[in-house]
Amino acid sequence: MLQQLATSTAPYKIYREWAQTLGPIIELSPNNSGKVYMLGTLKVTLDLFDKRSLDFSSRPRFPMAELLGRHENVGFSYYNERLKSSRMLLSRSLSPHAVQQWEELVQNDVNALLLKMRHDPSQLWPSLQQAIQSFFMRLTYGEDPGPEYYRLIKTSQAYTGAALRPGRWLVNKYPILKLVPAWLPGASFQRWAREGKALYETLTHEPFLKVKERMSAGIAELSFVRNCLQLRHSGDVKCDERLALTTAGSILNAASETTSSAMLTLIHALAADERLQARAYEEIKTAVGAERLPSLNDRSQLPFINALLLEVLRFNPPIPILTHSNTKHTEYGGVTIPNASTVYANVWSILHDESHYQQPGAFIPERFLGDMPALDPRKVVFGVGRRACPGRHIAEALLFTYATRLIALFSVETDEKLEFDTEFNGLVSTPKPFPVNVIPRSSSSQLWDLVSR
Ligand code: HEM
Repeated sequence: MLQQLATSTAPYKIYREWAQTLGPIIELSPNNSGKVYMLGTLKVTLDLFDKRSLDFSSRPRFPMAELLGRHENVGFSYYNERLKSSRMLLSRSLSPHAVQQWEELVQNDVNALLLKMRHDPSQLWPSLQQAIQSFFMRLTYGEDPGPEYYRLIKTSQAYTGAALRPGRWLVNKYPILKLVPAWLPGASFQRWAREGKALYETLTHEPFLKVKERMSAGIAELSFVRNCLQLRHSGDVKCDERLALTTAGSILNAASETTSSAMLTLIHALAADERLQARAYEEIKTAVGAERLPSLNDRSQLPFINALLLEVLRFNPPIPILTHSNTKHTEYGGVTIPNASTVYANVWSILHDESHYQQPGAFIPERFLGDMPALDPRKVVFGVGRRACPGRHIAEALLFTYATRLIALFSVETDEKLEFDTEFNGLVSTPKPFPVNVIPRSSSSQLWDLVSR
């Protein structure tokens, strides 16, 4: 998703303050691609992004990102037929029903991560981030390409970040400059974009071609790409090879930072509140016992864990601001939103709105229990309308499996009084590092044999 907001601080908190005096739709200063609005409440967000989703499902235009080829990436794509086909491919592999096919991968990868945490607890942060990247690469291509690939992904992300930086590129202001040939003096931006695009092409082509080779040899493991190519051959979904390639190439970036952020918020909550952790552990011990590891089938028996995960998503929504653009001139509540405006929705503000949540700044899973549970954060945290996150079911499955097994096997502790602080890179809000120890529970020794199998 494209974002053109200040980074490092938490601008969504500032926009929330503004909305309290200026109202639920604020017009911000215009950017290169036209007018900019910030939606601040659940009602306006649903009225525009959901009820009028046909008109509000595009993304703002960034010519520099186009030069890098990013408009083919699902999250950046404008609303068009190709996007719909990409989303169809994603849905075929990631719908609630289809998610079952990844259960073994989820369990094995969560176990591998827990073993790593046991052997080297000091490396919790990098272990977690690497394990999540590796999981999504294996889901997408059936194989983990190794550390060099992730290093290059970081470089490619830096190109994307730079392409979106406000005010950095004249071509974002004057799209006609896209046509300037690279050899002209002053066209160094074209050469820079060419390098960035070539790197991105390599990163999406190589693993894709490997799946094709393994399929020809009849040895391809289950993967998103294998599923896409099988659907293409059966004629079941209208899809050319380029579409399968670019859709697959959209998964890692969209999936890994968001999911890592939620897992880190969970670890923070467990470390910060012993009482909460004890209640979660008791629930698992009672419902699952000490002889087997929790699995997705236990979901309905673990209401407190489910509430805990909802509170994780509410307390620190991984994507605190949605970025849409409209394809139709709109009048709403006395405000005129011209065609092709950038329209942000402040998810963080909705999830910290006192009219939905008492004491919104406190971490209280119990708010989702009982006869009158608070508003389910999934109404907005995975997006709204036709651009809502296609990966939400696998994200929830991974989070549930990780949370239950972590709590069953470890006591998460800290020696300090923890504050919660985040880093916002313009798209994802991630908890800043905090001191934490993960100590294997002596009462769970039997379970470790199952994890190592
Ligand atoms: C806790 C984890 C996650 C959260 C909170 C999250 C949240 C979001 C949000 C808010 C959006 C934008 C929706 C909008 O514009 O209205 C989005 C888009 C997207 N997400 Fe996720 N996501 C998560 C995990 C995943 C995973 C695991 C995958 C893939 C396996 C994924 C794939 C995508 C893709 C491809 C898009 C772009 C969709 C489009 O533009 O049409 N996400 N996600």
